[in-house]
Amino acid sequence: MKSSACGGGGVCRTLVRGLLAIVMLLCANPLGASADNDWLGLLPLPRSVEVVEDEPFRFDESVAILCPAEEQAYVRSYLPGGFGAVRMSLAVDPSLGLPAEGYRLKIAPEGVVLRGVDRAGLLNGFHTLLQLFPSEVYEGAFRGVALLPAVEIVDWPEYHYRGQHLDVARTFSTIPQIEEFISHLAHHKINHLHLHLTDDEGWRVEIKSHPELAEIGGWRGGDSPVKAIYGEWEERYGGYYTQEELRSLVAYAHARGVEIVPEIDLPGHSLTIGKIHPEILCPVERDLSASEGYSSQNVWCVAREENYVLLEDIISELCDIFPSEYIHIGGDEVDKSYWRDCPHCSALYRERGMTSQSQLQEYFMERLSAMLAQRGRKAAMWNEATNGGTLSREVRIHGWEGVRQCREVAEAGYPTVVMPGPYFYFDMRQSKMEDGHNWAGIISLKKCYSVSLDALGFGPKAKSNVIGFSGAFWSELYVTHRDKYDNYLEYQTFPRICALSEIGWMPSSSRSWEEFSARLKVHEKRMEAMGISYRRGAPEPPQGRQITPSLKVSTSLPLKNSEALDKIASYANDWGCRTSRTCREGDWILYEFASSVKSGAVVELITGYRHVCRGVFPSGVVEVSEDGQKFREVAKLHNGGATITLRRPTRAIRIRSTATANGDNYVFIQFPVIRVP
Ligand code: ACM
Ligand code: ZN
Repeated sequence: MKSSACGGGGVCRTLVRGLLAIVMLLCANPLGASADNDWLGLLPLPRSVEVVEDEPFRFDESVAILCPAEEQAYVRSYLPGGFGAVRMSLAVDPSLGLPAEGYRLKIAPEGVVLRGVDRAGLLNGFHTLLQLFPSEVYEGAFRGVALLPAVEIVDWPEYHYRGQHLDVARTFSTIPQIEEFISHLAHHKINHLHLHLTDDEGWRVEIKSHPELAEIGGWRGGDSPVKAIYGEWEERYGGYYTQEELRSLVAYAHARGVEIVPEIDLPGHSLTIGKIHPEILCPVERDLSASEGYSSQNVWCVAREENYVLLEDIISELCDIFPSEYIHIGGDEVDKSYWRDCPHCSALYRERGMTSQSQLQEYFMERLSAMLAQRGRKAAMWNEATNGGTLSREVRIHGWEGVRQCREVAEAGYPTVVMPGPYFYFDMRQSKMEDGHNWAGIISLKKCYSVSLDALGFGPKAKSNVIGFSGAFWSELYVTHRDKYDNYLEYQTFPRICALSEIGWMPSSSRSWEEFSARLKVHEKRMEAMGISYRRGAPEPPQGRQITPSLKVSTSLPLKNSEALDKIASYANDWGCRTSRTCREGDWILYEFASSVKSGAVVELITGYRHVCRGVFPSGVVEVSEDGQKFREVAKLHNGGATITLRRPTRAIRIRSTATANGDNYVFIQFPVIRVP
């Protein structure tokens, strides 16, 4: 639940403003922001920071660090400490009189005392303490000398749920990669990692009673029954986590004050498990000729009793691995037409006097919630799970579709995590020219930072049910951007997670974009030292000038809308032209220029969506022709596209598919992007 507002509001704000004035002054003068002043960019900014003395505390390797046994390993991984008389004392003290997760940190020339009102408070305080050190503290065990300012900090969070979602189903992340991400989250006081473990494109969690789920479903492409859809089609890739690995990940996160909330996405988004166990699906026949026989049926049959036996096995093991109070069981984007067409689901619908297909979903979700309740757990779900109108108010709802849906579920009485796509989906682009989705808009850091419940129009009742905020990172683009970025996950999520950190931690009345921006400048040094490949402003625009030579486009594929092809030819349609079936080997797309394009021009060719590797020719070649008659191969497609440099004046370019089927029932045709030096 939301913690109470700052008790001595006036005093807190005055101190905070004074501190910020110093920060902004130092940022205006980069010489001022030396290592000794790193601490001025505290992020998230604490409720109250008071400078109590002029003389600093001198930290060196002799300082004795006292802390609870459970925190020793983590604390010492940053501050090994020694056996001297001077002390840094860290402890839990429930009598502090602060809200949950609060802490008091007092630094004086003679010693440091950190007290957390609970364990989370102690760790929050420790993460603030680290920010008072020079940023090198994040590089490993700190053995240098640091002068810590003599300050007293009193602090607690505004919201309990400060989360980040990570989709490891679309793109597999290794355990060390997830650990690193968790470490970064902890330093930003993000205390929940929502781990999206299953989806249409992968099943990443070992279920010992059904080992085939991960052993088969962890891999896609190649000979796997789970086709690639995103990324390469012919190459088998992926992975899964053993239960032992996941238990150690839970422990790693716990040591840092982060709880892992696992998600298995049900009853939709279940293509993978449906390929392994087709019997869980409704017995519904669909015409699959447009996709060359590839079925995208991904919804569990609600009426099949055996399904609940399998689900109970899965849920039982999931509860054994993850100790979190809530287990997320999905509930988003269910294609209910399968239930409508299923004789068994239809019979159940009639038998129970249901009036909408959403009630079938509620029936399914409630049965799973009951399995969780038997194990002392609660269910978390995406906001569409409430559409039937009667879902238990015990369920925690993660609102993603939009601000309106977040407001509605909170108003309806659900404990709500606010994570609307247009503000918190960090797979969205950060500026117009960048990589990333844009279906929820372009999310600049400033737009993300602008979030507050008031700004989003939440009324008093809705506000009282909001338990916090979360970012999301859906990873379908990750796999196709691996080669291009040091770390695409970090590029997309930082510094937007810095904004999220303050939205969850600080009262919105204490936040200001200008002050945040100034502190972020200082904080960048910390992210640097943590090894975060954060986004350092908008990337350079591509070299050269784009040209649009007169063009004719034709294809062997039947089109859904032939007008769109004319728009492609006039370079006017960014969305692309959709065909009415998938690709077959030998299909082609031909670009013929009215007059030759000069040699030296760089041509970026893609099939599929412009920013998502879907609806592509999964494999194929690019051929060029000087006379429009004879073609020669110059490149192979990678992730559905290729960039070529014309070596001779060129009249035509042809993309030829060497693949049959791409997992969808369409291909998207796009115009070539041509640049000249
Ligand atoms: C979602 O983005 N489908 C939860
Ligand atoms: Zn059914």
